[in-house]
Amino acid sequence: MKKIILMASGEGSNFSAIIDNGIKVDRVITDNKNANVIKRAEKVNVPIFVFDYKEGEYKNGFGWCERKIDEAIPEDVDLIVLAGYMRILSPRFVKRWKDKLINIHPSLLPAFAGGCHAIKDAWEYGCEVFGITVHWVTEEVDAGPIITQRAIHKFEGDTLEKITEKIHRVEHYMYPVTIKKLMGI
Ligand code: GRF
Repeated sequence: MKKIILMASGEGSNFSAIIDNGIKVDRVITDNKNANVIKRAEKVNVPIFVFDYKEGEYKNGFGWCERKIDEAIPEDVDLIVLAGYMRILSPRFVKRWKDKLINIHPSLLPAFAGGCHAIKDAWEYGCEVFGITVHWVTEEVDAGPIITQRAIHKFEGDTLEKITEKIHRVEHYMYPVTIKKLMGI
């Protein structure tokens, strides 16, 4: 059985899509004690590790906090899936889990890399083609080798809300498919 850890900070819709597609997630790690992903994980009995950086970071520094996260990841983990994890990981962390860290980003990278509002940014830029990218995580944000991409076209009558919905639907299909392919499951 493959060991998969998922890291998320917010809604957790990708987590649910992954679970609903029959992929076993061993643990959810979140840096946000109010994240909805916690409720989603509880519902399906996936263990959760919540780490609130605020106090720890203030007292002991960012590196210390990240090492706490390391401790919640089994040494023999097969894949660490970032799904809306809103913290930039340190070069040390990325090196530590090299070749096991993947991320999903709601744009056709390298376009609209780095931001938290990639869909809105693309919309405001006037894009007619949107997309999603699954990529390996490297030290530079949203810049690792691409594993897969899908384009989503804007049609007449589309609004930012409609495009956003379409993009999420594609994410919810593509992330599980990609994880299964990578893990041979
Ligand atoms: C997704 O759009 C993902 O591409 C981005 O953050 C969002 C997470 O959504 N990195 P959710 O928390 O899985 O609903």
